[in-house]
Amino acid sequence: MLHFNPAEMNVPEIHRLLVGGVGPRPIALVSTISKDGILNLAPYSFFNTFGANPPMVAFSPARRGSNGTLKDTYNNLIETGECVIQSVTYDIVSQVSVASGEYSSDVNEFEKSGLTPIDSEVVKPKRVKESPFQMECILKQMINLGDKNASGNLALCEVVRFHVAEDVIVNGTIEPNLIDLVARMSANYYCRASGEAIFQLEQPNTKIGIGFDQIPEKIRNSKFLNGFELGRLASIQKIPDNLQIENFNISYREVSPNNYEETQSAFNRYLRNRELEKMIYFTLNSKNINRDYFLMQSAKTAINLNQIETAWLLLQQIL
Ligand SMILES: Cc1cc2nc3c(=O)[nH]c(=O)nc-3n(C[C@H](O)[C@H](O)[C@H](O)COP(=O)(O)O)c2cc1C
Repeated sequence: MLHFNPAEMNVPEIHRLLVGGVGPRPIALVSTISKDGILNLAPYSFFNTFGANPPMVAFSPARRGSNGTLKDTYNNLIETGECVIQSVTYDIVSQVSVASGEYSSDVNEFEKSGLTPIDSEVVKPKRVKESPFQMECILKQMINLGDKNASGNLALCEVVRFHVAEDVIVNGTIEPNLIDLVARMSANYYCRASGEAIFQLEQPNTKIGIGFDQIPEKIRNSKFLNGFELGRLASIQKIPDNLQIENFNISYREVSPNNYEETQSAFNRYLRNRELEKMIYFTLNSKNINRDYFLMQSAKTAINLNQIETAWLLLQQIL
């Protein structure tokens, strides 16, 4: 590991560390209006939500790194107390990047970015038509975190109206692949939160898992399963008992170096198709084949196919 003391670093170095390690960060596309009526739009990725009752979000319009001056979004919020925060999707991210340009305060970034302003219901700042998720907000508190270059400010905002495009909702839930959100990472990196980047983990709200400490040492210390896979094993509510192990229908097949790969791929196919009754299990008939390895490998496949109980049944064969 490398170790850093922020007291001995310059501000750009600290910033580089923070944005590299704290991510991917959601991006708030913040629309405000000046007291003279000039529309303003800028992205802020030091952003998140902090409670549903009341619905609170916060973002950080920091002082400029170059000269410590305050940004238009900050000034407008202090003057008017209102903003609209919208989510950034892949479709609009390059326009959002244009809006992040340090234009002077008399420039309307809706025009620069080509994004469309539409009226809000409650607040004066406009909504961005192209974003499928828009929150009209009232500033509750602005917390100043310093008065130097790149010092942060925390704008705590209460949401007074949500606007969500119908076509991103399935059964009352915003579907990640439909909304296609984008997040910010280090340097010029962004992250598209859809496709293979997305996975599911059941929440242990009501179903508390056995925990890491209950995984037998032989499995836990094998180094064969990574932290993600061990975490999935730890999420099971109950390790399969002897009866389940007995009922675990695996037929036996002799496996030799000649048919090892074929057997492993058949095994994986049965796992994928959930054809447990066809599961084959080899008898160790050759010194060249490591039975534990075969079962661990199959358990790994089972975990990654979200078949946690099957993974346990396989692993119990080696205990
Ligand atoms: C994706 C992205 C995320 C950003 N996040 C922040 C942030 O969290 N805080 C900040 O002060 N500036 C952030 N910026 C820079 C501001 O968008 C930029 O300084 C902008 O010009 C501010 O505009 P304004 O003066 O109109 O408010 C970000 C820029 C981009 C492209």
